[in-house]
Amino acid sequence: MIYLDNSATSFPKPDSVYAFMNDFYRHHGVSPGRSGFDAAIAAEEMVFETRRLLTQLFNGTDPNRLTFSYNASDSLNMILQGLAQKGDHVVTTMLEHNSVLRPLHHLAHEGIIELTYVPFDKDGYVDPDDIAAAIKPNTRMVVVNHCSNVIGTIQPIHEIGKICRDKGVFFIVDASQSAGAIPIDIQASQVDVLVFTGHKCLMGPTGIGGSYVMEHVPVRYTRFGGTGVRSAQKTHLEEFPYRLECGTLNIAGVAGLHAGVNWVLAKGIENLHRMEITLWDKLRKGLQQIPGVTTYCAENPQNQNAVLSFNIQGFDSGDVGTMLDVDYNIACRTGLQCAPLVHTSLGTDKIHGTVRLSIGAFNTEEHVDKAIDAVTDIASLRN
Ligand SMILES: Cc1ncc(COP(=O)(O)O)c(C=O)c1O
Repeated sequence: MIYLDNSATSFPKPDSVYAFMNDFYRHHGVSPGRSGFDAAIAAEEMVFETRRLLTQLFNGTDPNRLTFSYNASDSLNMILQGLAQKGDHVVTTMLEHNSVLRPLHHLAHEGIIELTYVPFDKDGYVDPDDIAAAIKPNTRMVVVNHCSNVIGTIQPIHEIGKICRDKGVFFIVDASQSAGAIPIDIQASQVDVLVFTGHKCLMGPTGIGGSYVMEHVPVRYTRFGGTGVRSAQKTHLEEFPYRLECGTLNIAGVAGLHAGVNWVLAKGIENLHRMEITLWDKLRKGLQQIPGVTTYCAENPQNQNAVLSFNIQGFDSGDVGTMLDVDYNIACRTGLQCAPLVHTSLGTDKIHGTVRLSIGAFNTEEHVDKAIDAVTDIASLRN
């Protein structure tokens, strides 16, 4: 299989991830932090070390503000519901994933918040001035997808962060597609909450993600349960990381994420990005030469991740995906890719979305050549 669905989840994972998960779970796969025996202490140390690594990666200050969850969707639910108050206005963008859109829609539908969706331009970027213009006196937060999972454009979070801080609104960044793919500095970009997932560019397994919440952000807890600490207390714990974590952690997931982050750091985020965007550029140029192929917001490798959406005139994207799979053994994603408003904006909602090819750390020039050849073949079937 030629795997070009890395935006969904990176695959395969580095060997060191599989090896460390296997080894750690066999020898220390116990409940971390709850007991004083050696394996429990080793598990707790590994969890803390992973909090520390990720805090350092995002340039946070306190590893205890780095909390773990199932995935980005899980953390976004906790953050958005834990911050919204009745009567708030929330600004978000047409680039968001359903992991942001659905929790916000739910809050709007319940009459708790009012929502504004800021558009993106023809190249796939949100204009920070449009964000500024959308902020009202009752705006509580601005929620932005750092990197689109449909078109790969990287949004100017530095500029948006400054606007949010100046106007006194919280800035929430969905870094699902950018964490591990491009450098992120939450202090420099004035990000108040960063949400990440472990199973994409951080190279961890599925079932692990989390958030980093700055000290001044009053996120309420919306879940309650066991923490292994102060068990006689009737209420859930106020302090981080317990505030946003309850129940036994996914210890195998944290171990895999630990190894994944270490692998990314050893390779170098910039090196990985350069390799992937070079392949993306080759893919883009190759596809753009095929008669009948339309690519979306894919003109410039600057401020771009290695994700490319296209259509072949006269073909349904789902049919192209099936042909790529069945006839060429190429794995991709088709349709709306959980980001329906991107397609509304591109006009691709009316034609069942796009075909998305997304490049990862283990793709090669040969994979890209084969993908271009396959799309050339399919496009030649047009009447
Ligand atoms: C931009 C974006 N946000 C959120 C998510 C949700 O991530 P997860 O499946 O880890 O919850 C994704 C996953 O595709 C994504 O691309």
